[in-house]
Amino acid sequence: MSSGVKMVAAAAAGGAAASVIYSKLSERSSVSGEASSNGKAPLRVMVSGAAGQIGYSLLPLIASGQALGEQQEIILHLLDIAPALGALGGVKMELEDGAYPLLKGVVVTAEAAEALADVDVAVFVGGFPRGPGMLRKDLIAKNCGIFSAQGKALEQVAKKSCKILVVANPANTNCLILKENAPSIPSENFTCLTRLDLNRAKFQIAQRALCKVQDVSNVAIWGNHSDTQFPDAFNAHVVRNSVKLSVSDAVDDNDWLENDFIKTVQQRGKAVIDARKLSSAMSAANAIKDHLRTWLVTGTKPGETTSMGVWSNGNPYGVQGGLIFSFPVHIENGAVSISNDYKVNSFAQNKIQITEKELLEEWTDAKAALASQK
Ligand SMILES: NC(=O)c1ccc[n+]([C@@H]2O[C@H](COP(=O)([O-])OP(=O)(O)OC[C@H]3O[C@@H](n4cnc5c(N)ncnc54)[C@H](O)[C@@H]3O)[C@@H](O)[C@H]2O)c1
Repeated sequence: MSSGVKMVAAAAAGGAAASVIYSKLSERSSVSGEASSNGKAPLRVMVSGAAGQIGYSLLPLIASGQALGEQQEIILHLLDIAPALGALGGVKMELEDGAYPLLKGVVVTAEAAEALADVDVAVFVGGFPRGPGMLRKDLIAKNCGIFSAQGKALEQVAKKSCKILVVANPANTNCLILKENAPSIPSENFTCLTRLDLNRAKFQIAQRALCKVQDVSNVAIWGNHSDTQFPDAFNAHVVRNSVKLSVSDAVDDNDWLENDFIKTVQQRGKAVIDARKLSSAMSAANAIKDHLRTWLVTGTKPGETTSMGVWSNGNPYGVQGGLIFSFPVHIENGAVSISNDYKVNSFAQNKIQITEKELLEEWTDAKAALASQK
């Protein structure tokens, strides 16, 4: 059974039943009047920060059908700031030279209203980068202006069914700013990326438990996409030599699960920056592809979860409503519901409260910055 996002959506729509709230993207007719070779209309997909390093790894995954389905035609809307338009023109040429059969068009622009016009899916990767020594509070203030303006454009010109994924940091709070500025788009359409953290956690467990990464299930990422996040393996399973085991039994080292495992996942982004002198891009793009595909194409397998930042105004774990918080979720036919199957002991509850506190502080800072920018 599940609750949360789905229940919230039913309540917001004034209904009591927790029924499926939007249809599977790949079955939806979306762009009227546009020709399509397979009867399905092309999807308009906006990617902001498209001239950046994540964009360069992500766009081929979308154009080739890996993110949104191998039968789904795509029109890409690429947004970046004006000084990056030259480079973005080069990216457009490379997309054309890729001769992707599913790619029906590419729009390049520095105007949010043009980039977001009529879009079905919007992936927000572009934002103000965190410089050396920059406080999180200052990063939030810089991004407040960007995400409130882009949220207003989203409200005015995107489809009301548009599905939104925020990647740019601070991802959870940027997503909440977008949502607050686009009130006519359903709350359950707003998500932020914690799939990279989940993929990192699954790899660490597979390596330790001596199993395949695809045989690790139900790891959860709770909270903020930051180093307060709680990667939780205590409800997770592996299949090893055809036998299903809890991760605790498979690893047989609770000290590792409570300490080094959590720290490794929390600090992995920093470790990549230290090594590459650039932040994670290939793995981030792959995680965006996984997030979109699970949400909008495949759903989760029966009994399994994925993790994503979602909005809720109530959840089984006592996390304060009104935040974009990462939970373990089930997804069926595009409908996301927070799992209520997770056992949360006092150790886990404490970790969840730490990351909840950080998100509440971020939102306080964001509201102050938004008020001062008015
Ligand atoms: N959530 C996650 O798991 C995760 C993982 C990795 C990176 N990130 C974040 O993703 C973001 C992008 O990372 P990157 O490595 O591609 O950075 P990058 O600096 O290579 O690219 C960012 C791009 O955004 C553009 N941009 C800046 N302001 C913009 C605006 N107002 N509108 C549109 N575009 C704008 C820049 O011109 C640039 O092309 C960063 O905020 C990074 O911290 C998140």
